[in-house]
Amino acid sequence: MKILGIETTCDETSASVVEDGETILSNIVATQFEFHKKYAGIVPEIAARRHHETINYVIEESLKKAGLSFGDIDAVAVAYYPGLIGSLLIGLIAAKTLSFTLGLPLIGINHIEAHLYSIHFNNKVDYPIIGLIISGGHTLLVVSENAGQYNIKGSTLDDAIGEAFDKVSKHLGLGYPGGPEVEKAAKYGDEESFDFPRVILNGGPDRYNFSYSGLKNAVINQRKRFLKNGPLNSTANISASFQAAATDVLLTKALWACKDFDIDRVALAGGVSNNSRVRNIFKNEKKLTTYLPEKALTQDNAAMIAGLAYIKYNKGEIMDLMLEPSSRLGNIVKGKRKKHAN
Ligand code: KG4
Ligand code: ZN
Repeated sequence: MKILGIETTCDETSASVVEDGETILSNIVATQFEFHKKYAGIVPEIAARRHHETINYVIEESLKKAGLSFGDIDAVAVAYYPGLIGSLLIGLIAAKTLSFTLGLPLIGINHIEAHLYSIHFNNKVDYPIIGLIISGGHTLLVVSENAGQYNIKGSTLDDAIGEAFDKVSKHLGLGYPGGPEVEKAAKYGDEESFDFPRVILNGGPDRYNFSYSGLKNAVINQRKRFLKNGPLNSTANISASFQAAATDVLLTKALWACKDFDIDRVALAGGVSNNSRVRNIFKNEKKLTTYLPEKALTQDNAAMIAGLAYIKYNKGEIMDLMLEPSSRLGNIVKGKRKKHAN
């Protein structure tokens, strides 16, 4: 079964064709970095306009790359929450139009579930798993019993981890998006130079929650206070120490969750799972099995949407044209479920 997936939740316009949930026939991603760069962050109106300008081209390219035409597609899938509302609308309208005109089943996908699904393309995954979805918009710790299902145990109380990377990068005069730039600078730095706070929020209801605004402010406004020794106040040292503080917390909380829920498998997904330090500290934890997506699938992409849609289709989760976007993870208007086509 060939599913055309569409992803426009934030600032990437992507379309992909995936066969039977596992074989990626194409995955076209049009990034918008250049358009948001001078603002050092995503401007929602610009993102929506760019999606509008590129979506048709990206869909056509995904078919061309797969060597297919619209007649070869069996279903259309689209990420419809969470995300920027103007961006989501463009993908949703495109998907609904294709579903209506071609008479294809429409499958609505949760962007977070899809990020977690990205580990399936290069791993044989045993469940249950502890999942960490770490991106520019989210820092979530979940327990997942199966592909396409999760229970949120913790999330960020303020900034997302990727947002903290982006803001620190902006402050240090590095580029945008900030994560890869901070990682590059950190390579030449000593992560022991600064003792930046690792905000653990130990115990109680915050056991699995995260907080990155304190760390971000410590790096931006108070870094002298955390400086350990003499003349170490360089961009490389600040980057390395910040990166270490931001990522150590992920491992600490994941290990707590593994113990509490008696699970020894962890999955990382989302843009920040591209980070080599994150990958290494988890891989070096020998008592864990760590599932990592291919680097190319850590950022927003439509292959993860089309892949997960195969699972949803087989469970009969097909939506009608009343499907509406939602900026948040809660309050979802699914539209009426349609009967399974087969
Ligand atoms: O998953 P994603 O493409 O989009 C969202 O759903 O947010 O994640 C983008 C985020 C950005 O904040 C970016 O700075 C961060 O992921 N990121 C990284 C790295 N590559 C991307 N953060 C740290 N290290 C990286 N190598
Ligand atoms: Zn994402």
